[in-house]
Amino acid sequence: MRSSFVSFTLNGEEKELLIAPGQRLVDVLREQCGAMGTRNGCGQGGCGACTVHVDAVPMLSCLVLAELAEGCDILTIEGAARDRTLHALQEAFVAEAATQCGFCTAGMIMAAKALLDRDPAPQREAVVEALSGNVCRCTGYEPIIAAVLAAAAMLARLPAAAA
Ligand code: FES
Ligand code: FES
Repeated sequence: MRSSFVSFTLNGEEKELLIAPGQRLVDVLREQCGAMGTRNGCGQGGCGACTVHVDAVPMLSCLVLAELAEGCDILTIEGAARDRTLHALQEAFVAEAATQCGFCTAGMIMAAKALLDRDPAPQREAVVEALSGNVCRCTGYEPIIAAVLAAAAMLARLPAAAA
């Protein structure tokens, strides 16, 4: 099989890239797009560090073939902030000390963002469920859950256009 050109939108920017057969989306994002915030952790779907949104759905980019991203709208942690303003989740992760080494953080935030996008006022159980595929080996989960709930409260106080 030959390489082929694949077009998609990454954080609002059009991309057209030559993709080899079998190339994983996580590798294309990191190595060809420079979106290094997306982590390549286990590479097997077990840690959630590589979570990105594909057409607004959180996906493990280590399990997605890049060629299947044709025509898709992809959002990574680099696109979470707007106009140089951090997303409420990013602010809350800092405020709640929900990150230490930071390896899991981008995936956590993208998984949490997908939750808040569909459920702006989640119960604690919904946060736990939404993050159940994301592993953190150093912070512990309580500050992370607290950060997501704090971000939801922060977003509720913002005008709709800013959220
Ligand atoms: S790197 Fe994709 S789930 Fe671990
Ligand atoms: S902050 Fe280190 S793995 Fe989560």
